[in-house]
Amino acid sequence: MSKWTLGVSIGVAALLTSLGVLAADIPADKAVITLDQIPGKQGSVKFPHAKHATEFKVDGQSIPCKTCHHTMKSDAETPQSCESCHVKTGETQKQFEGKTAPVLGVSGNMKSVIYHQNCLNSCHKKAKAADGKSIATCKTCHVKE
Ligand code: HEC
Ligand code: HEC
Ligand code: HEC
Repeated sequence: MSKWTLGVSIGVAALLTSLGVLAADIPADKAVITLDQIPGKQGSVKFPHAKHATEFKVDGQSIPCKTCHHTMKSDAETPQSCESCHVKTGETQKQFEGKTAPVLGVSGNMKSVIYHQNCLNSCHKKAKAADGKSIATCKTCHVKE
């Protein structure tokens, strides 16, 4: 995969970065995470985690951990997995600070997938690769092997 320079203004990311808090490191065994939490035809997604936190830039700025790990109070905190709050369909939903965390997503239902909201709608649809290509096509993330 080539280096991406994401050239779009993402207010929250820029704001958090401007706070300049030192972040924890991505554990080596979490550099690439295979997301295989919602069964279905699309298969698993190989998520380049470390690249998102270091290499990929939005407006020339790194993406802070908190942009994705949205319940972090400070960048020094060790983030939890999404699935520690967002459970699989059919499991008892968890609460955090009085709010119910939506399920990870329902098979075959694009709209229900929390990663589509967090990754696709809030960033991939706005940002572009350095060469100007879209990073919002299904096969950006759903790579059939
Ligand atoms: C930015 C990355 C990204 C893009 C772009 C993306 N997806 Fe996904 N999608 C995911 C992730 C991550 C999951 C969760 C995978 C898992 O945990 O099993 C997912 C899950 C799904 C699921 C639920 C699981 C299943 O197989 O039924 C469907 C349906 C889906 N995606 C359809 C699409 C379609 C159609 C497109 C293009 C219009 C698309 N996605 C684009 C990241 C993406
Ligand atoms: C672009 C989004 C994104 C960014 C930026 C990001 N992460 Fe993650 N991180 C994820 C996703 C998605 C997972 C997988 C969660 C799951 O499996 O439920 C994850 C998982 C983790 C895990 C494993 C949690 C566990 O218990 O399994 C750790 C630790 C972690 N991230 C630390 C960090 C740190 C530290 C940073 C900042 C330097 C960071 N992440 C930046 C999206 C991101
Ligand atoms: C400590 C618990 C917790 C963790 C960890 C967590 N979430 Fe959440 N998340 C929640 C709660 C609770 C809500 C509902 C907030 C509300 O209703 O205002 C939520 C809401 C969301 C939403 C908005 C859904 C909607 O329907 O509006 C998305 C997207 C999301 N989380 C994605 C993620 C991703 C991706 C991760 C991992 C990188 C993650 N969350 C980690 C608790 C958590």
